[in-house]
Amino acid sequence: MKLSIVSGRVALFGVALLAAIPARSAQPIPHLEKRGATTQLIVDGKPYLALAGETANTASSSLEYMEPVWPRLVRMNLNTVLVAVAWDWIEPVEGRYDFTLVDGLLAGARKNNLRVVFLWFGSWKNGISSFVPAWVKAGPDRFPRVRVKSGKSIEVLSTFGAANLEADTRAYVAFMRHLREVDSAQRTAIMIQMQNEVGILGDSRDRSAAGEAAFTGPVSPELAAYLQKNRDRLYPELLKTWGSAGFRTAGTWTEVFGPGRAADEIFMAWNYARYLDQVTQAGKAEYPLPVFTNTWIVQPEDNGPGDYPSGGPEPLVIDIWKAGAPSIDINAPDVYRPNFAEWVERFHRDNNPLFIPESRGDAGGAANAFFAIGQHAAIGYSPFGIDNPGHLLVMRPEAGTPAPTELENLPLPRAYAVLSQLAPLILEHQAAGTIAGALLNSEHPTREISLGGYVVSVDLRRNRRDPAQVPAFGYGIFLAVGPDEYLVAGNDIQVTFRPATPGPSIAGLAEVWAGRFVEGRWVPGRKLSGDDILLNYKLDEAAAVNQSGSGLRFGPDGPTIQRVKLYRYQ
Ligand code: DGJ
Repeated sequence: MKLSIVSGRVALFGVALLAAIPARSAQPIPHLEKRGATTQLIVDGKPYLALAGETANTASSSLEYMEPVWPRLVRMNLNTVLVAVAWDWIEPVEGRYDFTLVDGLLAGARKNNLRVVFLWFGSWKNGISSFVPAWVKAGPDRFPRVRVKSGKSIEVLSTFGAANLEADTRAYVAFMRHLREVDSAQRTAIMIQMQNEVGILGDSRDRSAAGEAAFTGPVSPELAAYLQKNRDRLYPELLKTWGSAGFRTAGTWTEVFGPGRAADEIFMAWNYARYLDQVTQAGKAEYPLPVFTNTWIVQPEDNGPGDYPSGGPEPLVIDIWKAGAPSIDINAPDVYRPNFAEWVERFHRDNNPLFIPESRGDAGGAANAFFAIGQHAAIGYSPFGIDNPGHLLVMRPEAGTPAPTELENLPLPRAYAVLSQLAPLILEHQAAGTIAGALLNSEHPTREISLGGYVVSVDLRRNRRDPAQVPAFGYGIFLAVGPDEYLVAGNDIQVTFRPATPGPSIAGLAEVWAGRFVEGRWVPGRKLSGDDILLNYKLDEAAAVNQSGSGLRFGPDGPTIQRVKLYRYQ
């Protein structure tokens, strides 16, 4: 109903007049809020779990292209979509803004009951300046670029160009003002990504004249003060780098951070952070949605900064970003690597809640989502290329595209279906700190978690007759819902419990139910026992190492949900 009022206004009076009508704010603006053990994204006044996906870079440049995408996202059980808004698309002619695309994207999302995260492709996208308007590209004298070692200038705007900062800020502010005007009543947009994977490729720092002057000048006293004040909680590698140069709080960048390329990376991080803090702050003054960055993480074959974007918010320099860009709420990682858990651990910090803006959308992606949300209280998960269902099979769309009728049955949509059933409980338990997640694969086939008075042992599901036959991934979310009681959602895992408090040492299964949540209400299905649980026939043998009784089994066609009540015996 609200939608028709807004579109009716547009139809009757046109966009210009709409801008003049103060929007009625139905709900508080989406924001981040510390709740108990974690920081959560609050949408419409309530904690929100973003079951998201990101469209290909230019998908959102065409409303026609997006038309069939929207209903597919709904069928895949997404509640949120990440779409690009490029500077070039809204200001193709200097000073003349066109928000037709933004309005169309909001309308498409609303019609399908989805929320939107806009990705601001401003000065930089994957390090380079490919989404800036042609009038910026064609004016290198006015809009200074980075110079690399060879002396060549590259198609990357320099952080040292005041005109770059001013022009990007002006466009971004216009965009955020427009969002306030057209979205305050509905709050369809819930977060903003500031640029995309920033940093310099091809060199470790900007060697333009302004860049060189800054690099040979003193480290900002503001940064030095931050490092000193937060010394106890700095990322260990940064602490080591700073310590190796003697923990100096004044001097040039190489005096304070040593002669290596780490100093270049720290220097660039500071300058990107300062630039983007100003853009972000100006945007928040118009409409203060939460803002995050995304990081192109270091790849194993990289040989130092510049092979990966130098200055982007890598773990080494995440504290530099916190110091330089306090208005950016989250520095998020884009993780396509198989060691997802390790990367997530590096980015999830006390002052940095977790959001995954880009990752895989296949079976491994389903596992990643469970782990990030369960173990690291992620506010959301978002595989890349969601407009192309081929990405839900593997990360290579050429490997084939699932038939439209199969969409709901692919691993990620199935995982999202279960996560959305559990979302209210997950959010409650994230705040209470009574939730965990497991992500198992051939390198990490087993894991122990302390939760709710028991040690929960999680293993990849094993075939009783052929124990060597193991699935590629196993994953689960564990909620301690009451004394001796757990809700577990999982796929391809087996789970046993061991008491962690004084008393009888073996945990047995009092009751196990399969079931589901319908509108937040638990609806039990089968009562599980026999072949449908994990029977520990060799308890005595196992007792020496594990002391666990019977346990839960989760098959390959899930994830599914089980509720278990335990009892203890000797
Ligand atoms: C990471 C970038 O951030 C995305 O925009 C996209 O280019 C993907 N890589 C492609 O794999």
